[in-house]
Amino acid sequence: MLPQVMATRYVTPLREGGSLPGIVEADDLGTYVMKFTGAGQGPKTLVAEVVCGQLARRLGLRVPDLVRMWLDPVIGKGEPDEEVQELLKASGGLNLGMDYLPGSIGFDPLAYAVSAAEAGRVVWFDALVNNVDRSWRNPNLLVWHGDLWLIDHGATLIWHHSWRSAEAAAAKPYDASDHALAPFHPDLDAAAAELAPQVTEKLLAECLADVPDAWLDGEPGFAGPDAVRAAYADVLAARARTLHERITLGPPTPDRPSQAPGWLTGKDGDAR
Ligand SMILES: Nc1ncnc2c1ncn2[C@@H]1O[C@H](COP(=O)(O)OP(=O)(O)OP(=O)(O)O)[C@@H](O)[C@H]1O
Ligand SMILES: [Mg+2]
Repeated sequence: MLPQVMATRYVTPLREGGSLPGIVEADDLGTYVMKFTGAGQGPKTLVAEVVCGQLARRLGLRVPDLVRMWLDPVIGKGEPDEEVQELLKASGGLNLGMDYLPGSIGFDPLAYAVSAAEAGRVVWFDALVNNVDRSWRNPNLLVWHGDLWLIDHGATLIWHHSWRSAEAAAAKPYDASDHALAPFHPDLDAAAAELAPQVTEKLLAECLADVPDAWLDGEPGFAGPDAVRAAYADVLAARARTLHERITLGPPTPDRPSQAPGWLTGKDGDAR
């Protein structure tokens, strides 16, 4: 289970994030980027953050530590911004915290070089979880202490919004042409050989155990949280087996609109 902390002070909103995450301090003296259950995108984005964050870390990629963050909305009482007030009011109870990386900077492909091996691992992982939100438009990668860190997995596992199509999603191709690391000649063969055998039922079950029951409970068509966990594991295990045959890497498409779904960007053109 993820460690649990109590939010003690709302510091400031991160305005560049579409879901209005906030920087929040906690009773373990840590500082976290808090993602709220009451945000418009709903708790499934938090499920995706946990599943992908834990899985990526276990596969050797760098992801800031995750915690369960308990929020008493009273900490936002002095917050002057109405939008923030509403968000805190709607998010009492369990939320997600990601360790804040102080002094990190957004990844810039012109300023930071990534090896073909590391680019391959990141692209392969993003293909596994169908991440449409790591493009050169919005890389969701940070550079901290000279290393590359992965953040923001809320727009992954898009199939969990429509479980009927989930089985077919396991076989879907992944177009990595616009991926932020596509220019670094990702070595996908090496990544697949290294990572696919590690995506075992056991590993998936361990990652899914970290998702709080409260965010899985009540999913229509499932007997309970463990049945939903098993469904996530089935799709990911099936996808991992033959994934690299279905990753395509062409030239970047500067004119193509973002592939991020409309519910995430707030714009039209739902790509689900
Ligand atoms: N752990 C972290 N440490 C430092 N800065 C962070 C961290 N997580 C997020 N940020 C900063 O906050 C911004 C918003 O975070 P994030 O991308 O996770 O939010 P979002 O609402 O899901 O965003 P998006 O609009 O990309 O969907 C990031 O672009 C980054 O600048
Ligand atoms: Mg983001």
